[in-house]
Amino acid sequence: MLGPRRPSLLFLLLVLQPVDCKEMEVAAIAGESVQLQPVKLPEPWTEMTWEVTLDSAEMYRIVTFNKGDPPDLGSSPHFINRVTFHPENLSLQIDPVKKSDSGLYTLPIDIGGGREDITKFRVSVFERVRQPNLMVLPAHAELGQCNVTLSCSVPGADRVTYGWSRGTSRIPSDRDHQLHGHQSLLHVVINANSSDVFYRCNASNRASWGADTVDGKSLCDSPATGFASSPASYCQVKGILLLVLLGALVTAIVMVHVLTRDKERLD
Ligand SMILES: *[C@@H]1O[C@H](CO)[C@@H](O)[C@H](O)[C@H]1NC(C)=O
Ligand SMILES: *[C@@H]1O[C@H](CO)[C@@H](O)[C@H](O)[C@H]1NC(C)=O
Ligand SMILES: *[C@@H]1O[C@H](CO)[C@@H](O)[C@H](O)[C@H]1NC(C)=O
Ligand SMILES: *[C@@H]1O[C@H](CO)[C@@H](O)[C@H](O)[C@H]1NC(C)=O
Repeated sequence: MLGPRRPSLLFLLLVLQPVDCKEMEVAAIAGESVQLQPVKLPEPWTEMTWEVTLDSAEMYRIVTFNKGDPPDLGSSPHFINRVTFHPENLSLQIDPVKKSDSGLYTLPIDIGGGREDITKFRVSVFERVRQPNLMVLPAHAELGQCNVTLSCSVPGADRVTYGWSRGTSRIPSDRDHQLHGHQSLLHVVINANSSDVFYRCNASNRASWGADTVDGKSLCDSPATGFASSPASYCQVKGILLLVLLGALVTAIVMVHVLTRDKERLD
């Protein structure tokens, strides 16, 4: 009884197994346009559909296109007025794309003989990374070196990763030295000879990035640090010394005056 079953099982496997199944990663920026297009179109083909399973688990058929017929755009409320289908290259355009559009988009193409060519697009929609703000936290300085903590903050950071580098110019260059650390905070030690040094923070997600740079020279200049406070205390010391000297001088003059007067009286 097993004999007749085998061919039907085989046939089922053939139907379920796509000829060619590729999954592409697409990172898009919220509010902008995204276009999904199969790398190469199978020939010949008869019917294709754009479908999606959103991360929210909602499923939609976006468009069905039979060769020779006008495309049939589904009336999915989720994408209303935001999708365009280009029959020339079978690409699907979403403009503007929203974060809730993240999901798995599939393009099954019927290539005849009950076989399908399926292309999958894993779409992730990110907020554009805003300009980061690189700040220097109060430093601790002694003996001509200071330890500072740099803080990189991104307004409304959304799945942002941080990268740090050190260079010799405000402008990013290939020669910049990549530093370890993928946190928003970075500890650095600055000494007197690290003058022409610039620290850069690069905040990025898979779709965009933003960077900010700080001049190493300015890192130990804040009032809380030693580089600036040592000249200040030196000034204070100089002031006190001057005062003491002035006092001594006045005392000396008065004493000389009193002594001469006493001497005159004695004479
Ligand atoms: C597909 O075709 C449309 C219309 O000709 C065009 O605007 C679009 O850029 C094409 N897409 C790609 C990815 O080439
Ligand atoms: C700076 O940090 C290093 C290591 O983190 C430490 O060894 C050193 O003593 C610190 N220097 C100052 C001035 O705090
Ligand atoms: C900076 O000076 C320290 C000693 O104060 C020395 O160990 C270090 O190698 C110098 N760094 C550079 C880049 O010249
Ligand atoms: C910032 O990081 C992104 C992603 O890694 C990279 O593409 C970009 O070139 C970096 N920018 C700078 C200025 O390093």
